[in-house]
Amino acid sequence: MHVNGLPRSAAVPARRLLSDFLRHDLGLTGTHVGCEHGVCGACTVLVDGRPIRSCLQFAVMHDGAEITTVEGCNRPDGALGPVQEAFRDCHGLQCGFCTPGFVTTITAYLEENPAPTQEEAREAIAGNLCRCTGYQNIVASVLRASEIRAARGHDEEASR
Ligand code: FES
Ligand code: FES
Repeated sequence: MHVNGLPRSAAVPARRLLSDFLRHDLGLTGTHVGCEHGVCGACTVLVDGRPIRSCLQFAVMHDGAEITTVEGCNRPDGALGPVQEAFRDCHGLQCGFCTPGFVTTITAYLEENPAPTQEEAREAIAGNLCRCTGYQNIVASVLRASEIRAARGHDEEASR
């Protein structure tokens, strides 16, 4: 499979979870494992651009897929991606345990809906659990990420 744009492979047992494969075999520990039951969303990664709970999937199911983890949600030059930057700007995290799952989920969501309303932003994150923040700042981060994406789009247009 390709993970964050790079070809990665390892020989693993058929029962190896995708979350364990990413963390233990590839050393990408940004993907967090909370509940291991598909409830909390901390383990969310993108498979071919779509968010999935990596704790509910076997690694071998995704042979040949394009996977994006939180480590791949930055910019090509290594700077923070729009969602990461928005979380920093809006104080969207406290302990940060849930943050990788929010960043991947919101990254995929904004591809589909680049300019969400506050209500839509709230809905977009409804499947992810955070025990620290009260969600207000995460909602603000979704809206801020949308602004950052739009501004960068304009910058990139202008530099052509
Ligand atoms: S660890 Fe996968 S949803 Fe909680
Ligand atoms: S910031 Fe701690 S669980 Fe969300």
